[in-house]
Amino acid sequence: MDNQHIYPIFDRTLQRADREKLLEQKAVMLWFTGLSGSGKSTLAIALERELHRRGFLCRILDGDNIRAGINKNLGFSEEDRIENIRRIAEVAKLFVDTGIITLAAFISPTNEIRRMAADIIGEDDFLEIYVSTPIEVCEQRDVKGLYKKARKGEIKNFTGISSVFEEPESPALIIDTSKYTVEESVEKLLGLVLDKVSSK
Ligand code: ADX
Repeated sequence: MDNQHIYPIFDRTLQRADREKLLEQKAVMLWFTGLSGSGKSTLAIALERELHRRGFLCRILDGDNIRAGINKNLGFSEEDRIENIRRIAEVAKLFVDTGIITLAAFISPTNEIRRMAADIIGEDDFLEIYVSTPIEVCEQRDVKGLYKKARKGEIKNFTGISSVFEEPESPALIIDTSKYTVEESVEKLLGLVLDKVSSK
């Protein structure tokens, strides 16, 4: 019998390109950065839904599945935020290497932290989306009531109030969610990613 046909898989280790071919898509990393309450997760969730509808496989990484799980031992000191993002970037890299369009929604407050994420994942795959919603709007939304607590001094090192947020230097896209509907923002995001993720 022709072993070549039975065991073609032994020829070589499968690569990302093989997985992308199987999924009929190309992987990319969409890194949403911005203040708490700026709309990062909302946009990631809406974009995933739209890409999924068009036949693309995505994975969202956000506070709900990361800070509640593998990173639940981490707080918000500078050191812990760096470790938070380092682990997230390593996990994201595995998803990208699996051929999956990966969406990460984390404050990732400094250029140094975002640079580290881009270095781990690889510059070519890394698209930075700055969700630039002004702090006044985020604070007014105060979805989790954390801004109120931070103002009262009940939460230390709160990003935008008692801890730094540096604006990204050259993001691939800037979206202020106080100016656009979710649908409009998703349109902008699709304009950025569709070409990059389509295999044809
Ligand atoms: S990051 O700075 O390390 O990237 P990350 O995105 O994982 O932050 O977590 C931010 C979320 O944690 C916020 O949306 C908020 O709900 C919560 N949080 C709790 N304490 C803080 C704090 N001191 N600063 C910012 N966010 C905080």
